[in-house]
Amino acid sequence: MSQGQFITFEGIDGSGKSTQARLLRDHLVARGLDVVLTREPGGSSGAEEIRKLLVEGDPDRWSGETETLLFTAARRDHLEKLIDPELSRGKIVISDRFADSTRVYQGAARGELRALVDRLHDAVIGREPDLTLIIDMDPEKALARGLARNSGEDRFEELGAEFQRKLRDGFAQLATDNPDRCRLIDGNRAPEDVARDVARLVDAKL
Ligand code: ADP
Ligand code: TYD
Repeated sequence: MSQGQFITFEGIDGSGKSTQARLLRDHLVARGLDVVLTREPGGSSGAEEIRKLLVEGDPDRWSGETETLLFTAARRDHLEKLIDPELSRGKIVISDRFADSTRVYQGAARGELRALVDRLHDAVIGREPDLTLIIDMDPEKALARGLARNSGEDRFEELGAEFQRKLRDGFAQLATDNPDRCRLIDGNRAPEDVARDVARLVDAKL
């Protein structure tokens, strides 16, 4: 069975992941490649239902442990129903967030949950991306961009700038710890400049 390529975007809220994921999809489609664009939390119908529980409502709605279980449950469904089948068909799967978000948001920023995050990942996910593009940017600017969207999905953004700074440090550490898979990209630039760097890295990988 042929095996495709799994590419993920990571970074703090409002850093431009969704914008860059779409631009990368367009770039690869223009090259004649078969691409599936997806996102987390969500990406399959069951996982999209779990997403609603996670991104709406009071920031203190779930404990860190419960939240970790919900994100992991959503990811397992996404993996079973979409990611693994599409990779088996040889497609390039681009996901706007994946397991690194749980490592950073639940594992690093919301208490000492990293060991639980890693145990759950090993037990029920066990898949790492071929390439992870981490969009790095100033949390204040990213927060202003994100809240300007008025999406009604601001449960995490409402946790504030200090939280976003911790997240940024968490993603930078992840890039340092996983140099083979992760690339840090400066997001404080015009979308087309960021997209040019992304396309260069992905073209080199493919
Ligand atoms: P994320 O998926 O990381 O939350 P988005 O791609 O949704 O980020 O971008 C958040 C907001 O910022 C959107 O309104 C988007 O149009 C805008 N945006 C994205 N990239 C840039 C950029 N490089 N410069 C300025 N604004 C941007
Ligand atoms: P997302 O829709 O990607 O938000 P944004 O476009 O603002 O970056 O994700 C929703 C929120 O869920 C976001 O604040 C990050 C958080 N999240 C986690 O805390 N853990 C996870 O495992 C994932 C995938 C997302």
